[in-house]
Amino acid sequence: MTQTVGIAGLGAIGSAVGRALVKGIDGLEWIASSDLEAKDEFDIPLMSFEKLAEHCDIIVEALPPKAVPELAEITLKRQKTLVLISSCALLMYPEISDIHKTTNSRILVPSGALSGIDGVKSLSKLGILNSKIKSTKHPRGFSGAPYVEEMGIDLASITEMTRIFEGNALEAAKGFPANVNVAATLSLAGTGPENTRVEIWADPDAKGNSHEFEVTGTYSTITSKVSNMPDPANPKSSMLAAQSIVAVLEDMNSALVVL
Ligand SMILES: NC(=O)c1ccc[n+]([C@@H]2O[C@H](COP(=O)([O-])OP(=O)(O)OC[C@H]3O[C@@H](n4cnc5c(N)ncnc54)[C@H](O)[C@@H]3O)[C@@H](O)[C@H]2O)c1
Repeated sequence: MTQTVGIAGLGAIGSAVGRALVKGIDGLEWIASSDLEAKDEFDIPLMSFEKLAEHCDIIVEALPPKAVPELAEITLKRQKTLVLISSCALLMYPEISDIHKTTNSRILVPSGALSGIDGVKSLSKLGILNSKIKSTKHPRGFSGAPYVEEMGIDLASITEMTRIFEGNALEAAKGFPANVNVAATLSLAGTGPENTRVEIWADPDAKGNSHEFEVTGTYSTITSKVSNMPDPANPKSSMLAAQSIVAVLEDMNSALVVL
């Protein structure tokens, strides 16, 4: 039976997922979207979150984090599946998880701009002793971040690789909601937001962004580094993140699934 898909947010990531759905994903049909403005590229009706959740079995979230709680509440209360890429929203807005627990809905968090989340999930079954992630971007990639504004960090004056933040994943999500979904995802797969250490570095020579983590258990240590070129449609985003959603959607009905 075909499942219907709605995409909330047709920006860089939502549009890339839309293109994949237009090409065709087995068992799925993209029928509607939500956005604040019409997108000429797609012949797809735009509707409210309420209507999207009413008409679609699976809702793909590709919104700014602050718009996620409203979508999540509506989707989860309708017992639908939410594919959630703005994973830092789960840390910033605990009410989403509170509502989720009272429903039969599912939240699927794709690996996003990271690699190695599969191993971290497996390692967490045996216990994680230490988890840390370092994200590096050009200073301008952090413009508008609440932490940068609160601390009065002058991004334009950074002339060499500089650590601008160190803390846990919860603090990082609040301070850099558009930049540290990777840390949120790692913490959710691993040892939780309070126990996941995060460093954020500004590098004026960086062409793209990179995320490097090390997760240590009793028997294994996993290290992973991803270097991403920025998505031209949104330099704060990454192509890999959109394709991780496509991979999740393909897995929904695939006969062979490699997790
Ligand atoms: N998990 C990861 O590794 C990862 C990686 C990159 C980006 N992200 C996150 O994915 C999300 C989407 O990223 P993007 O690059 O596509 O962003 P984007 O800014 O390109 O697109 C966001 C879209 O949402 C729309 N929108 C905003 N508010 C809305 C509302 N209230 N209702 C309906 N539509 C609304 C905008 O018009 C825009 O089209 C962001 O939260 C970003 O931080 C996660």
